[in-house]
Amino acid sequence: MNCATATAHPNIALVKYWGKRDVALNLPAVPSLSLTLAPWSTRTTVETDAPRDEVRLAGRPATDAEASRVTRFLDLVDPDRPPCVVDSANDFPTAAGLASSASAFAALALAATEALGHTRTRAELSALARRGSGSACRSLWGGFVRWDRGTRADGADSCGHPVAGPDHWDLRMVVAIVSDGPKPTASTAGMLHTARTSPLYAGWVASAEATLAEAQAAVLDRDLERLGRAMEQSTFTMHATMHTSDPPLIYWLPATLAVVHAVQALRRGGVGAWATMDAGPQVKVLCEVEDADTVQRAIAPHALRTAILGPGRDAHLEPAC
Ligand code: PMV
Repeated sequence: MNCATATAHPNIALVKYWGKRDVALNLPAVPSLSLTLAPWSTRTTVETDAPRDEVRLAGRPATDAEASRVTRFLDLVDPDRPPCVVDSANDFPTAAGLASSASAFAALALAATEALGHTRTRAELSALARRGSGSACRSLWGGFVRWDRGTRADGADSCGHPVAGPDHWDLRMVVAIVSDGPKPTASTAGMLHTARTSPLYAGWVASAEATLAEAQAAVLDRDLERLGRAMEQSTFTMHATMHTSDPPLIYWLPATLAVVHAVQALRRGGVGAWATMDAGPQVKVLCEVEDADTVQRAIAPHALRTAILGPGRDAHLEPAC
């Protein structure tokens, strides 16, 4: 029996991934850029040579759908693998749009590769994690991570690249959890629907490279206003493609917009804060360390709960299993 435990942090996209150039391989239509976030993390243990596959999530047996997503991923890690026990838990709410699949598949790729006795580079682990959930390829690294679109049909050139480590820039993401409800439409289904039916989708794809270049330059210059503007541009262009799908795909709730308006009011008052939303109603607000408490106080009345996150480090193996 072999055993390995890995920990990975979730990441939130500053420039968004929305749309696939290959659905089976999870290859993106656009490049993206994210910030890996601590202290939230997923911790996953994989044990080999079990009597049969067994998947436990948050201390309970996985549903059939959840278990098959995990065991199909283990088959990608090693097609000749023995049965395995997987035990995975998040120390943060697995709520809609909080990137839990990113840390989950990054931790699983690392723990399963180690337990099954394989050697893979970080870039190979990233490309592997991408197969489980696209955004997971960015959670192999800490700090700011770019995911290139790539052009190869096999996807070998589409994995994460570290742009700047967690110590480069001590920013904060203040999270507003505005709903505990389940995600109404999974991200893959939402992306396919958007690409098929939104007249704005082509414009979204065409504008992505320029937004990415702008955001990456802002990260390297530690220019928060420039980064915040690029992030909001990416966020609202992505959501515009969803809103103009047929039928419209609307992840926002009234409280989502209330937080966005609170962030705009903060900016009018001279506080540097910018908002982003993913495939769910939660809002994440980017700001400087010294403004995080002010931002939290301003958005808390519209949220069920809030949390302040900062740059997280690379996904890593734990010393003991
Ligand atoms: O990795 P997925 O399939 O969960 O898709 C993530 C999509 C967004 O969160 C909306 C954007 C992103 O880049 O993370």
